Amino acid sequence: MNEIGGKTRVLGVIGNPVEHTVSPVIHNNLAGILGDDIVYAAFHVMNENLEEAIKGAYALDLLGLNVTVPHKENVIKCLKDIDPLAERIGAVNTLVRCEGGFKGYNTDMPGLLRAMKHDGVCFDGKEVIILGAGGVARAVAMMLAENNAGHIYIMNRTLSKARDIADEINAYKQGMITALSLDDHGSLDKSRKYIVIQATSVGMHPNTEAAVIEDPSFYELVKAGYDIVFNPLVTKFMKLCREAGASAFSGLRMLLYQGVIAYELWTGKEVSEENAEKIYEKMLEAMNG
Ligand code: ATR
Repeated sequence: MNEIGGKTRVLGVIGNPVEHTVSPVIHNNLAGILGDDIVYAAFHVMNENLEEAIKGAYALDLLGLNVTVPHKENVIKCLKDIDPLAERIGAVNTLVRCEGGFKGYNTDMPGLLRAMKHDGVCFDGKEVIILGAGGVARAVAMMLAENNAGHIYIMNRTLSKARDIADEINAYKQGMITALSLDDHGSLDKSRKYIVIQATSVGMHPNTEAAVIEDPSFYELVKAGYDIVFNPLVTKFMKLCREAGASAFSGLRMLLYQGVIAYELWTGKEVSEENAEKIYEKMLEAMNG
C-alpha cells in the first residue's frame, strides 16, 4: 500500500454488515500496483443512517464509494445523478463523486459480463436459465435481455416473483423470457443444453451443502454453470454441474471485475488483464487465509 499523506484520497464500501468484504483487497492492491495515492476502507452504515452517510462522504471529499447489501436500492434516492443502466437495473453498487453529490453506477452486471467473457461463456443467441428471482436475478435478466441472449428461462421457488420479472422484460422485449417454478425443470427441452446462472444465495457459506436444485437430472441440461456465490469458491451447484460433465464458474471473477470497473470509473484509468489477474491472486489468498 502507498504511504498515507495529506493528498491521499479516500474510497470505501458501505454495507451492513461489511466486515467480511473483499473489496479493500481489490482496491488497495490496485492502488499499489498502479501507484495511485488512494486508500480504501470499509464503513459499517446502519440502514437509518444511509442518507447522512452519503452526505457526510461528500462533505469529507471522498472520491467515491462502493455500496453493498442492504443499501444498493435505497441509496438511489440519495444520489445527484444515476447512470441509465443502473436506473434500469434498479440497483447501484458504485458512487462516483460529481458536482454537488454522487453519481450512481451498477458495475455488478458489466462485471458479470466481463467475467463470462474471460471464462469463455458466450450467451449470444443461446438459451439461458436464471435460478432465482430476487434483486440479483432481476439484474441478470435485464443484462441478458440487453445483450442478445436467445431466450431466457427464469426459475424460482416462488413462481409469482419470476413472473413479475418476466412480465417486466417481455413488456419491452416480447417473448424474451419465460417464468417457471423450480420444480418445473422437467418441462425444459431435454434435447438442448443451457447456460445456467445461479442467482440465489443458496449454497453460500455457512450453508455450503445446499444447492437451489438438488436433482441431478437437471444438471444433464447444463452446458455451463455460473454461480453468483463466491464463498465457498466451489459451491454445491458448481459440483453438481461438473459431476454432470458441464463447466462451472464461481462468482469470484464477477466480484473482481465489478471492482475493476468501479476503479476505472473513479480514476479514469484502464486496468489491464495482467493487473486484474494479479488482483485475482490476492483475492484468492485473502479467501484462503
Ligand atoms: P438478492 O437481492 O440477493 O437477489 P433476495 O431478493 O432476497 O436476494 O432473493 C433471494 C432469492 O433466493 C429468491 O429468488 C429466493 O426465492 P423466493 O423468491 O422463493 O424466496 C431464493 N432463495 C432463497 N433461499 C432459497 C431456498 N432455500 N430455496 C430456493 N430458493 C431460495
